[in-house]
Amino acid sequence: MNYNNPNLVFKEIPTGKVGWCSPSNIALVKYWGKTGIQIPANPSISFTLSKSITETIINFSPSKNDRCNLDFYFDGIPNAKFAEKTSEFFKKLVDIFPFIKQLDFSIYTKNTFPHSAGIASSASGMSAIAIALCDIENQFFNTFHTEDEFYQKASYIARLGSGSACRSIYGSIVSWGEIKELDYTSNLWGSRLKFEVNPVFKDYHDSILIVDSGEKKVSSTVGHGLMNNNPFSKSRFIQANNNIKNLLDVLRSGDLEEFVTIVENEALTLHAMMMTSYPSFLLMKPNTISIIENIREFRNSTGIPVSFTLDAGPNIHMLYPHSFKDKVQSFIESSLKVFTQNEVIHDNVGSGPEKLQP
Ligand code: DP6
Repeated sequence: MNYNNPNLVFKEIPTGKVGWCSPSNIALVKYWGKTGIQIPANPSISFTLSKSITETIINFSPSKNDRCNLDFYFDGIPNAKFAEKTSEFFKKLVDIFPFIKQLDFSIYTKNTFPHSAGIASSASGMSAIAIALCDIENQFFNTFHTEDEFYQKASYIARLGSGSACRSIYGSIVSWGEIKELDYTSNLWGSRLKFEVNPVFKDYHDSILIVDSGEKKVSSTVGHGLMNNNPFSKSRFIQANNNIKNLLDVLRSGDLEEFVTIVENEALTLHAMMMTSYPSFLLMKPNTISIIENIREFRNSTGIPVSFTLDAGPNIHMLYPHSFKDKVQSFIESSLKVFTQNEVIHDNVGSGPEKLQP
């Protein structure tokens, strides 16, 4: 599939604005390792979140000098790092959206989760920009025949900005990468699951325990690259495919014991990969381990099927069904909050990006 389209150039260059909010997501089976142009080494599946959201407004006007000039404001303050990252992203997109070269952009973005929270914001940020660019195409060129075409392209574009961002284009539970058992899946974009997911997962909770909100020790790009020389990577990719297959069964059946096993295995394997790479990274903190031990003890003593997962950092995502919300959240308050920087974000599975009326 090639989205290059030389016809997407304005005859009359417009001034306008477009706004979208887009959520973060938490991977159940992790994307870690990639090849070529953002092609994942193995498929992944995530919950789309509901409260951890980036709101993005893109103002555009005719370019003053026939090349795309871009300002980026984060929380109203100019942000040179994000401006550069977004410019790089836009450069990759000029064959797909040639109109980019005709425009200057001022991008205003803010996160609804605390900036310091150490939550991956590239998924929400990049997916919001991707969908907003597709919206500009839709408004001025009228190229999309169906909603599915629109969202598929948005997911393709988001992937080029950040792999995990392609999963944030849809709500609920989203896969990315070719899955043998699901013939509609692709390495190029994320997909909604087209089977009936067990109702228990539709309102699952994710309480994010902020153990350390500092800058990431290793960027995702560097982290993915480490898989090229990791001695365990081959078996990891096989394991990820097996975990995907088993998770698909669990998502149908609602077998929460198996869900816990898969999700925790994925989180710990991700960190094991980082620990066994050259150079190696130890991204968990002592408090991360304390929380994991406490969660496992709580689960064993109460039978409540709460599990943990991790991104490439020290913060814990606690996943549990809605029916255990009160019990789990009071356990967090009484026994786990002390291991955090006094910060817990109670999020849950959400319905995906929404258009803003800027
Ligand atoms: C550990 O999507 O941030 O969160 O494609 O280089 O931008 P890039 O990587 P990114 O990697 C996410 C890694 C992860 C696992 C996951 O979300 O699947």
